[in-house]
Amino acid sequence: MCGIIGGIGNNIFDDIKQGLYRLEYRGYDSVGISYIFDNKIVVKKRSGNVDDFFNHYSQNVNCNLIIGHTRWATTGIANDINAHPHLSFNSFFSIVHNGIIENYKEIKNELINKGYAFKSDTDSEVIVNLIEKYYLDGNKDVLDCLKKVSSRLIGNFSIALIDLNEPNRLYFYKRKSPLLVGVGKNKNYLASDIYAISTFCEKFIDISDDDYGFITSNEVFIYDGNGLKKIKYCKQNFEYVNNDLCGYKHYMLKEIEEIPNVIQTNIDEYTKENNRYYPHDLLNKINEFDCVIFIGCGSSYNAGKILSRLTDCLNKSSFVFVASEWSNYPKIYGKNPVFVILSQSGETMDDIKCIDILNKKRYPTILLTNNEYSTLAKKSTYVLPIFSKNEVAVASTKTYVAMITVYLLFIFAITKDKTILSNLRSAIEAINDIISRKNEIRNIANKIKDLQSVIFLGRCYDYDICLEASLKLKETAYINSQAIPSGELKHGPIAFVDDSVAIFTFFSDINTFLATLNNVEEVKIRGGNIYNITNKSLKTPNDSFACMDTDLRVCALVKSVFAFYLAYYTAEYKKLPIDKPRNLAKSVTVD
Ligand code: F6R
Repeated sequence: MCGIIGGIGNNIFDDIKQGLYRLEYRGYDSVGISYIFDNKIVVKKRSGNVDDFFNHYSQNVNCNLIIGHTRWATTGIANDINAHPHLSFNSFFSIVHNGIIENYKEIKNELINKGYAFKSDTDSEVIVNLIEKYYLDGNKDVLDCLKKVSSRLIGNFSIALIDLNEPNRLYFYKRKSPLLVGVGKNKNYLASDIYAISTFCEKFIDISDDDYGFITSNEVFIYDGNGLKKIKYCKQNFEYVNNDLCGYKHYMLKEIEEIPNVIQTNIDEYTKENNRYYPHDLLNKINEFDCVIFIGCGSSYNAGKILSRLTDCLNKSSFVFVASEWSNYPKIYGKNPVFVILSQSGETMDDIKCIDILNKKRYPTILLTNNEYSTLAKKSTYVLPIFSKNEVAVASTKTYVAMITVYLLFIFAITKDKTILSNLRSAIEAINDIISRKNEIRNIANKIKDLQSVIFLGRCYDYDICLEASLKLKETAYINSQAIPSGELKHGPIAFVDDSVAIFTFFSDINTFLATLNNVEEVKIRGGNIYNITNKSLKTPNDSFACMDTDLRVCALVKSVFAFYLAYYTAEYKKLPIDKPRNLAKSVTVD
């Protein structure tokens, strides 16, 4: 995974420092920078997040060539030595790397046999040593070395590389992991994403897979298999949103409470006359598609479960797949299917693998994303933005809700069913009601914070909400939890119910109300701690929290907010790092 950044030009350090903070969503277990000082390559790196790093190395660095890295460990544990950048054996090169080299062990052994020694356990150190080896053995042309190295390496990799002998050049190579060039005023940049460098750059250059080259402070040279390429600039209307906490204790809390606004913004954007998001052919073609196949990971997959149920009203069949399952075992249904990819970041490698397969087979794709400039956006046939502004907390909240909202608005554009809009407005009201009663949820969190195990029960949409509620509680509060369709409980899971288990049951559907209530009774007589999350008109004997009544199609928007608060407050009681839970990253760019 990881975020890489580099810059060249006068006083570049501050920009790179800011960029590293913005790249932290790609990993935060260690951080490092490298630059040339006094004719030597300096490397500073340590485990911990970006704040820890700059608190430790608090002095500004005076340099005009620098690379930086935020890591999410893949090869080699998260420690100081495995942190990037990595220096080559003879200290001629330093490198930052995003990606995974599959054949690094074999190359590492070859290099060790030729006298190279390694400090780290990473695959990245192999790349920098291989470059150095080719450099010292050959004609000392770094571009040549990059070409040779790329034909030896198997896997995904984007790198930025400092060459001690050429302090006015910053080299790069890109394969599959994202990388772009940013052009500033007498300064140029490399970064994993536009967000990291958007405020310093006037224009950007996309780098294609297997392009390589170098930047100087005012020129950019990109090569492919045919030699030097003509540079194509793209001016992006990327709006950098300065995202501070605005008085909130955590981003997760702030982002939960932005949800009513996010729904409203999407309603406004998607109901504008002639909005640009539905290209003519998409709305015309949608009737021709006989099957909609949803693909996503984590919360985006959970949103896909809801979207698949919502698709019933379009009289099309629909299926939902976890991206990493689909890419390994691709399934195509229908004669003329369309694929909907769900990814708030637009950078998730598991999704990218799916879209690459789909593009090869020429299937149309619709991407729902919070990043119109992402890798997935570039590869999709159609892009529907989910207008959530930047989501900083690792746990998705507002983007989950936004995906469901945007799909409902898409259905509205197709069916012109105005009840969808009124339902969305009622959902906003019901969510505001939950926000005003959040202390009730905080009290519930206090009761479950020390439990080892939580079960979420529900049917249909309520079961889908359980999936998201369970994921949120696991990832922020580290409580082992399961989502179970309530009818399944008696087929096994009920065996571990006793008074150490909390059971949250979501009730949104009058049609299954009584059946689910029976399941709760079965749990209650076995000692389970019952929490029923209902609607005001669906009263149970043990209501813990009743939401305002809303249409079934928007119940996930409303009840997920209960689930987000539950996870948030439980983690808060446990004094956990809510915005950056252990072992996670905001964007999962490895498969
Ligand atoms: C959970 C969470 C993750 C992401 C998943 C997909 O709170 O945020 O499960 O939903 O990693 O990420 P995107 O949507 O960026 O593809």
